[in-house]
Amino acid sequence: MTAREPVVELRDVTRAYPGVAALAGVDLTVGRGELLAIVGPSGSGKSTLLNIMGILDRPTSGLVRVDGHDVAALSDRGLAALRARSIGFVFQHFHLAESATALDNVADGLLYSGRSRTERRERGAAVLARVGLGERLHHRPHELSAGQKQRVAIARAVVGEPGLLLADEPTGALDSASGAAVMELLHELHAGGTTIVVITHDQDIAASLPRQVAMLDGRVRYDSAARPGGREEATAC
Ligand SMILES: Nc1ncnc2c1ncn2[C@@H]1O[C@H](COP(=O)(O)OP(=O)(O)O)[C@@H](O)[C@H]1O
Ligand SMILES: [Mg+2]
Repeated sequence: MTAREPVVELRDVTRAYPGVAALAGVDLTVGRGELLAIVGPSGSGKSTLLNIMGILDRPTSGLVRVDGHDVAALSDRGLAALRARSIGFVFQHFHLAESATALDNVADGLLYSGRSRTERRERGAAVLARVGLGERLHHRPHELSAGQKQRVAIARAVVGEPGLLLADEPTGALDSASGAAVMELLHELHAGGTTIVVITHDQDIAASLPRQVAMLDGRVRYDSAARPGGREEATAC
């Protein structure tokens, strides 16, 4: 397999909370265009890992590089700009603004993009149409099914066309049909070039993705891209 340019690189990353090593020395490289699953028991550090990959959180020690930028060298303002430009997040429980319409929820994903309100709404409507919700622009979250809410959340995450999409158990609150629709959408985004990392408890979903990384006690226990005696596929020459 040819080498891919790394989008995220973690080297010996730790994240300590009082009395807990949420991450205890993680090495992981995600190459551009990858689609990978992160699995592991509750408390194994999956969400902490994703938050650090998405620079929502800083490590206690170790190196984090996103899109080639050493995160430790960036100011909070620089981090916010990198996040707004490069990263989309999707969460298990959607995190939508309940009083805002689907369109406003998605358009607000562009608030810090410097685009006009009109342009934000035009782009928001186009992305909602793309996720199959072109007829639901003015519905509020309570007027949508769980699967539709998650598609709104994905539309909000990708409206700024980030290169990296991070999803923390995106199907965890969905019935299997809605979960399958969400995974299909993630596959479409991946086919369009987006790098995607998905935390999942669902073994079938994990097995259906090109790469699996298993966490245990704050460490990578298994990485399907690792070669015996070698480095990870994503960084191999
Ligand atoms: N904000 C926090 N404060 C204290 N401990 C935390 C915090 N976030 C996570 N932890 C602890 O870190 C460990 C890993 O948590 P997490 O990354 O959420 O695991 P997972 O997503 O795999 O369930 C757990 O022991 C958890 O209790
Ligand atoms: Mg979690």
